[in-house]
Amino acid sequence: MAPQTGPEPGLQGRHILFGVTGSIAAFKAAGWIRSLAREEARVTVVMTRAAKQFISPLTLGALSGNRVHGDMFDHHPERIMAHITLSREADCVLIAPATAQTIARLAHGMADDLLSATVLAADRPVVICPAMNTNMLHHPATRDNLERLRGFGYTVIAPACGTLACGDKGAGRLPEWDLVRETLLALFTEQDLAGRRILITAGPTREPLDPVRYLSNRSSGRMGYALARTARRRGAEVTLVVGPVHLDDPPGVEMVRVTTAVEMENAVGTLAERMDIIVGAAAVADYRPAVCQERKIKKTEAASRCIELESNPDIMAGLGGRRRPGQLLVGFAAESHDHEAEGRRKLVEKNLHLVVINDILGSRTGFDVETNQVTLLTGDDVRRLPLLSKEATADRIWDRVVELLRS
Ligand code: CTP
Repeated sequence: MAPQTGPEPGLQGRHILFGVTGSIAAFKAAGWIRSLAREEARVTVVMTRAAKQFISPLTLGALSGNRVHGDMFDHHPERIMAHITLSREADCVLIAPATAQTIARLAHGMADDLLSATVLAADRPVVICPAMNTNMLHHPATRDNLERLRGFGYTVIAPACGTLACGDKGAGRLPEWDLVRETLLALFTEQDLAGRRILITAGPTREPLDPVRYLSNRSSGRMGYALARTARRRGAEVTLVVGPVHLDDPPGVEMVRVTTAVEMENAVGTLAERMDIIVGAAAVADYRPAVCQERKIKKTEAASRCIELESNPDIMAGLGGRRRPGQLLVGFAAESHDHEAEGRRKLVEKNLHLVVINDILGSRTGFDVETNQVTLLTGDDVRRLPLLSKEATADRIWDRVVELLRS
C-alpha cells in the first residue's frame, strides 16, 4: 500500500457562506462552489433575488449539497432569524460575483435582503469579488463604495481584465478561482511571514548548445512553486526566479523568468540585497557548453560527439559569501547517496543557515512528483520529515524558517 502523505493544506472543514448576486458571472460561482465542495469545505449559498435570474438555486443547492437561502421572510421556525444563524455558523463570507448594487448596499449598511442583512450581522472575515461592466466599476460611486468596504476591513479582490460579457474590454471580470482560494486560505493561516521579503529560485536551468539543443535536468519546479505559494499565503512578499517550467503562476507572487544559470545568477544578484530570506530550490546546471554554436550542429561534425563544458556560477555559494547580517539563506541538497554528509558539506561550504536534503532516487521523493520526503539540517539540528505533499513539505520548511528567525 502506498504510504499516506497526511492532510494537504486546504479549506477542508471550513464553512464558507457563499453570497451570489445578479451578474452574468453568476454561472462561474457554480464552478467555485463545486471546487469548494470537492475539497470538503462546507458551503452555504445565499442568493439575491437578481442572482436567481441568472442561475437556478437548484443548481447551486445540488453543487453545494446544502439548502440555498434567499428569503428574508421565511416563516419556517428554524429560519425566522436566518441572517443571524447564517452569520454565526460561517467561518467567512465570500460574495462572488458582487454586483455594483450589492456593493452599494453593503457600503451603506443596508439590510433589506437576506445577504446584506447577514453580512451586516457577521463578525467574520468578508471577501468581495466585484464583477461588472468596466464603466460601472470605474464610476466614482462604485469606487467610493469599494473603498468603504475596504475601510470596514473587508477584502476586495480586484477584478481581472479582459473581454466582458457585454463585449467591452477592460477590468470587471471575476478573477481566477486559484487567487480567490488563496485569499480564503490566507484568512485561516497564521501570517507569520508577514513583512518578510523572500526570494525563491525554482526549476531547472537550460544551457544552450546550438539553436535547437540544450543541456538541462528533470526539475519540474514544483517544490519551489509550493514554497512560493505557501510563503505568500503566510503573508510574505515573494519573488520567484524561475527557469523553464510548465506550471501555473502562484497568485500574488512576482515572477522573474530566466533560462540559463548565468541569467538566474544575474536576476538573483539584482534582487538579493533587499531580501530577508533567500531559498535556492532551483536545480541549477553546474556546467554549460563552452561554446553555443550559432548554427545547428550537424551529425557529421566533430562537435556533435564531444561537448566542451565550463563551470556555471554557484548562485547560493555566491550569496553565502556576501550575505548581509539578518539575511537567512536556505539551500537544497539533491542527493542520491550520503545524504546527510553531503547536506552538511553544502551547509558549510555555501555558508547557509538551513539545508533541505531530498532523495532524488525515491519514486515519491524525486523529480516531477507531487510528494517529497526531506530532512531539515541546520548547524546543530537534523529533522527528518515524513512523506508529505510538496505543499505540506513547504509549510514545514517555513515552520523551521520561522523558528530560526525567532531564535
Ligand atoms: N546551487 C546554486 N548554483 C549552482 C548549483 C547549485 O545556487 N550552480 C544551489 C541549489 O539551488 C541548491 C544548492 O545549491 O540550493 C545545492 O544544489 P545541488 O545541486 O544539490 O548541489 P551542488 O552544489 O550542485 O553539488 P553536487 O553537484 O556536488 O551535488
